[in-house]
Amino acid sequence: MAYRDLRDFLKILEEEEELLTVQEQLNPRFELSAAMKVINDTRAVKFDNIIGYPGKAAVCNVLGTRHRIARLMGVPEETLTQSFIDRKSQLINPLVVKEAPVKEVIIRENIDLPSLIPVLTYHEKDVSPYFTSAIIIARDPETGMQNMGLHRIQVKGGNRLGSLLANPPIATFWQRAESVGQGLEVAIAIGVDPAIILGAMTKATAEGPDKFAAAGGIKGEAIELTPAETSNLLVPARAEIILEGRIIPGLREQEGPFGESTGNYFQYENPVIEIHTITHRREFIYHNIQVWGTEPDVILTLGVSTENISSLKRMVPSLKDINFSPGTCMFNAVASVQGATTAEVRKLMNLILSMDQRIKNIIVVDDDVNIFDMREVEWALATRFQADRDLLLLTGLKGYVIDPSVGADGFTAKIGMDATKKGEDLDKFEKITMPEESISRAREALKASGGI
Ligand SMILES: Cc1cc2nc3c(=O)[nH]c(=O)nc-3n(C[C@H](O)[C@H](O)[C@H](O)COP(=O)(O)O)c2cc1C
Repeated sequence: MAYRDLRDFLKILEEEEELLTVQEQLNPRFELSAAMKVINDTRAVKFDNIIGYPGKAAVCNVLGTRHRIARLMGVPEETLTQSFIDRKSQLINPLVVKEAPVKEVIIRENIDLPSLIPVLTYHEKDVSPYFTSAIIIARDPETGMQNMGLHRIQVKGGNRLGSLLANPPIATFWQRAESVGQGLEVAIAIGVDPAIILGAMTKATAEGPDKFAAAGGIKGEAIELTPAETSNLLVPARAEIILEGRIIPGLREQEGPFGESTGNYFQYENPVIEIHTITHRREFIYHNIQVWGTEPDVILTLGVSTENISSLKRMVPSLKDINFSPGTCMFNAVASVQGATTAEVRKLMNLILSMDQRIKNIIVVDDDVNIFDMREVEWALATRFQADRDLLLLTGLKGYVIDPSVGADGFTAKIGMDATKKGEDLDKFEKITMPEESISRAREALKASGGI
């Protein structure tokens, strides 16, 4: 079944028993976030009964598994990485439409975001609620070209927001506007087609490509956009909520503390956004991405690993795939190789550790190890790695802005661990296995008994 928007996708997840609906009353201040931590599994969760917000629902962990992303794209999970690489560059331009369910309700006065939207407060010392699935849309003040990005946003109260604009293209549009003393018109879309979230994970500069076109490519179908109410921006017509407003030039306010994707609290000096218009669906569903949860791990891994894997494969053809350890904010990576020599593994480790500021530690394993199962990766490290022989240490590299261990000088050290089989007698590394037919038979039997 094809799907048109977040609601449609949730219906599919419900039919396929991937969506848990919680009817019990919970508070958006800590309790929804706590529920996601307690459940700690891969299902998407919809909260239908939120204290203080009757009739409104919140949904979390929509893209929390590779299986669901493969489902969205209509491709086998086994080939997801390659399909994502192929699809994101087969750009499909968005379609501008008149029918826009997101305009069912329009609010132009007395804007009070915290009372309208059940925004979650995630962690104990967070200064306030935060939007974590918000897509910021803006135009380049120099070229007029529109683009978008995913940025977490502090909800300060009333119509005021604050956001860390660290990544291009939105960060560049904002710098260009402010450098000539101008504000920047923005639209913030919440509850978008999940393909748009995946499109936001692709890399773009101010010059492009259009991430909505990348989202269309990933989905295999054009994303529907419609003119915003108060600016020349085009916004997702089938989103749940659109906030229209302006980033104020020359103004910085303290933002945070906020519990970040590193699992630590951070504070910043950030620009302020003022919202003057809201459009939303009549009974909107509020979409959030759990901070330090499985969903950012899965979507960032797909976004970042596929960005460089093609060029890496050209330089080291034995490279098979790359993954990142859950909960490490992409600081810890794992790569698999097929039949690589020790020199090739060294070259690969050097390349991966240099390609992205976030990547700090890399483990390289043979392709008999499932790099999406950290138990197997740890097993390879335990049984195939010797530190005095297989460790690579790099120092004096630029660290990532939200790594609390990076020193005041901004530098970080990085390590590579070669956990591939090596030596004269490779047989001793043979992984113990069971016959495939026996595993299938056991799976059938357990399924029939309701065991899985
Ligand atoms: C959950 C989540 C939150 C993010 N929050 C921000 C943010 O607040 N500010 C920002 O500039 N980028 C943020 N990003 C990263 C951007 O979306 C980024 O542009 C994207 O990951 C593209 O990869 P790049 O960082 O390698 O360019 C976030 C990403 C995720 C998955």
